[in-house]
Amino acid sequence: MWGGRFAGGPSPLLDAINRSIGTDFRLWPHDVRLSKAWALALGEAGVLTREESDALQQGLDRVAQRIADGAQPVATDEDIHTMIDRLLHEEAGTVASKLHTGRSRNDQVATASRLWTIDACHRVDAAIAELQQSLLMQAETLTDAVLPAYTHLQRAQPVSGTHWLLAHFWPLSRDRTRFANAERGTSVMPLGSGAIAGSAFPVSRVLLKESLGFHAISANSIDATGDRDFVAETLFACAMTAAHCSRLAEDMILYGTSEFGFVKFGDGFSTGSSMMPQKRNPDVFELARGSGARVLGDLVSILGTIKGLPSGYSKDLQDDKRALFNAVDLLLLVLPSMAGAIAELRFEKARMRAACSSAMMATDLADYLVKKGATFREAHGAVGSLVRQAEESGIELDKLPVEAFTAAHALFGTDAREALGVDASLAARNIDGGTGPDAVQRQLTQARASLAPV
Ligand code: ARG
Repeated sequence: MWGGRFAGGPSPLLDAINRSIGTDFRLWPHDVRLSKAWALALGEAGVLTREESDALQQGLDRVAQRIADGAQPVATDEDIHTMIDRLLHEEAGTVASKLHTGRSRNDQVATASRLWTIDACHRVDAAIAELQQSLLMQAETLTDAVLPAYTHLQRAQPVSGTHWLLAHFWPLSRDRTRFANAERGTSVMPLGSGAIAGSAFPVSRVLLKESLGFHAISANSIDATGDRDFVAETLFACAMTAAHCSRLAEDMILYGTSEFGFVKFGDGFSTGSSMMPQKRNPDVFELARGSGARVLGDLVSILGTIKGLPSGYSKDLQDDKRALFNAVDLLLLVLPSMAGAIAELRFEKARMRAACSSAMMATDLADYLVKKGATFREAHGAVGSLVRQAEESGIELDKLPVEAFTAAHALFGTDAREALGVDASLAARNIDGGTGPDAVQRQLTQARASLAPV
């Protein structure tokens, strides 16, 4: 493809370090598509005759068919673009040498990568929606469940089971918005930029954009050939999604321990031990948690690459695809596995409720005093002293004698201990976004609506 300028052949080491077909082979449908659009545009511009343009487009269709039928790279195929060029010569003969008129692999690879990424954003979006569906289905079964919510991993306040699971639903909604934005940013067409200065042939970029379905045309050929913002943005969306999967997984791993005992893992997504017959391990959640680190590595890798480069294309950019494909592949494995593992969880509602010890309603007790006229500061002090007394005498807060309450604050009445009820605590929080039963019903409606097809 570029041998004319060189007297000697390439070192085998150059070949080894330079060959990217192992990674970029999957770009072939997009490369064929953009090449057909290019052949059409060259014909429309009068650069090629109608017959030449048609021959190239038909040849490219046969190339696509051969690859779909299993055609494999040969040793001289540096990347998918050179492989398709070779196959096109085999299929269409010498006219194949006219396809590369006015274009470069620089605008070609940027265009093919963007087409692949647009498709990937849709696939990941659908996989996230599937996980959300699974969470929502389980959340609907937990409207009567309560469990401790933790801050600093210390029991904080009781919340509805639905509320807890939906706390993992909304971050995924934001991830979907991030993928939609990444897709929008990706949908800018570099084709026509040539190697760096723009094509010298009068092809219609509008025609190209329309036939390839891009949203916009790049404004600057130097920028367009070196721009990998779309890779970084997509990888950020991937990394954020992976982090959310990791956090969800960690909740399940933790709450599935014998010590917590809030959830039980199903057979389809847990493993046993080769030695310990009693074991049931949440491998899917652990692998999902671990994947977060790998996807983060991919994001850091593209940012590091971009950071070191001057303007225009440099070969460093070839590795953008390794990072991007790895992250997307991983998510397309993690998200459906998580959806499956979530769907088969069983929740131990009695254990969840039993873990809501009365000290967790200390805030409600302070609120009780506030409603009777005390300041919150004063109430906090009084309730704090009761918590200390209970702790020192080794009993639950709601088991302290009534006299202890009235001694702690004059505004405590005989009904004080009722403020320590779990359900009362939830019922007090029907504020929008709160864990009260009415608020949670409204939240469920909102979640269902957000998943409904638009
Ligand atoms: N395989 C290359 C890549 O993925 C294609 C672009 C090659 N461009 C070049 N100037 N050598 O980046």
